[in-house]
Amino acid sequence: MASKSRYVWVEHELKDSSESKIPFVNAGLHYGFSVFEGIRCYATDTGAAIFRLEEHVDRLLDSAHIVGFRDLSFTRAELLEAIHKTVAANGFSACYIRPLIYLDGAMNLVVDSGKPRLMIAVWEWTSFLGAEARERGIRANISSYTRLHPNIMMTKAKVSGNYVGSILAKTESQRLGFDEAIMLDPQGYVAECSGENIFLVRDNVIYTVPKASILEGITRDSLITLARDLGYTVLEEPISRDQLYIADEVFVCGTAAEVIALREIDFRMIGDGKTGPVARLLQESFEQVTSGRHPRSAEWLSLVPAFDTAVAKA
Ligand SMILES: Cc1ncc(COP(=O)(O)O)c(C=O)c1O
Repeated sequence: MASKSRYVWVEHELKDSSESKIPFVNAGLHYGFSVFEGIRCYATDTGAAIFRLEEHVDRLLDSAHIVGFRDLSFTRAELLEAIHKTVAANGFSACYIRPLIYLDGAMNLVVDSGKPRLMIAVWEWTSFLGAEARERGIRANISSYTRLHPNIMMTKAKVSGNYVGSILAKTESQRLGFDEAIMLDPQGYVAECSGENIFLVRDNVIYTVPKASILEGITRDSLITLARDLGYTVLEEPISRDQLYIADEVFVCGTAAEVIALREIDFRMIGDGKTGPVARLLQESFEQVTSGRHPRSAEWLSLVPAFDTAVAKA
């Protein structure tokens, strides 16, 4: 991780991060009862721009709704502005943005006895899976951990507690010598990785798994759109483990990872064992979008207003 937030957003205002203390006794920390987002801000020729900010904010509000938070003390518009102000105050042209709503109090396991509190931090973070990953692709295994059962944890909500499963799976993969974990759903079909959605390519058709047991990734949605713009057929179908083995290409995507090929799964080479042509094309299209040089950029990038910097730090 490079530079950290100097300023963080706490509830309704920016604070110096050294002053942002949270109480030890809160259900967010003790029980993982928080919802959050991972968003990226990119450097473009016209300034810092946040990728699909509105969709991320909507997913955060949906997550809050799913877990049963009531009476948030801020509106959608205030949340959008708070994110802009936090990015602007920290002066990063490219960064990762982490809004989180945690349950303060509620040590009796009842949402309504606590209060949802908002915090936003940003930090500079260029490459999540390492610089080499984009070029060479990475190695993954099928995890011994099953992805969330949709009636045990809420798969459409980015709940902090859900990520215990991701951490267990990714740590296991890395200790076994792989880079990333692919998790199957409770029926045994491919679900997703620890923090990425998954695609495969066979005979020039792109496949990805249906939304039922996965997080509805915003990068996933963007790649489906970009691939269809490029003339590819994209199908959402259940995918078995061995369909991955015999694919021409497999790639994963997410806000942090962006677009990364899997060159090997469970010690089996995938395709030519390197980033394939479809993954490469989507990587390039995605980079054009996020650098502001693609027809979809205007729709998907939201410039961080310059005026915020002075106001926010005042
Ligand atoms: C479990 C999981 N799946 C998929 C994704 C990809 O989602 P997005 O593209 O919105 O970042 C993420 C990252 O947020 C994730 O944590």
